[in-house]
Amino acid sequence: PWSAPRAAGIIAEHTHLEGATLPILHALQEAFGYVDEGAVPLIADALNLSRAEVHGCITFYHDFRREPAGRHTVKLCRAEACQAQGCDALHADILKHLGTEWHGTTADGNCTVEPVYCLGLCANGPAALVDGEPVAQLTVDVLEAALTEVRQ
Ligand code: FES
Repeated sequence: PWSAPRAAGIIAEHTHLEGATLPILHALQEAFGYVDEGAVPLIADALNLSRAEVHGCITFYHDFRREPAGRHTVKLCRAEACQAQGCDALHADILKHLGTEWHGTTADGNCTVEPVYCLGLCANGPAALVDGEPVAQLTVDVLEAALTEVRQ
């Protein structure tokens, strides 16, 4: 879990670097799995930046998670072949079904949804990964079944 003293220690280890903001954010995400809102003033103070600047950096790079990730990860392919197989409408249905958004986590903390771009399963799209396992010919039901399996 998030710990301000631990975060401050991690920040202190990186302040000597040029352009320290990104290495710090990566280190915090590595340590905690996300970048807590509480890190913003700590980084701002350590690097003599405004909070808005630190915030801007976190939101500019989509790599940074703003809240703890779910227990499971669903990666949905958004690349061309899956687009041609109707992934846009499917993804809208899936996000609605799970009640979350891209990069978001379901309210029960069960899963986080991320976009990916081609999983090499183009012939069997729409494709996805559930906790790293490939899922072909995705539908809402197929995804539910895959999630049920990983929950066990
Ligand atoms: Fe989706 Fe290749 S485009 S798996």
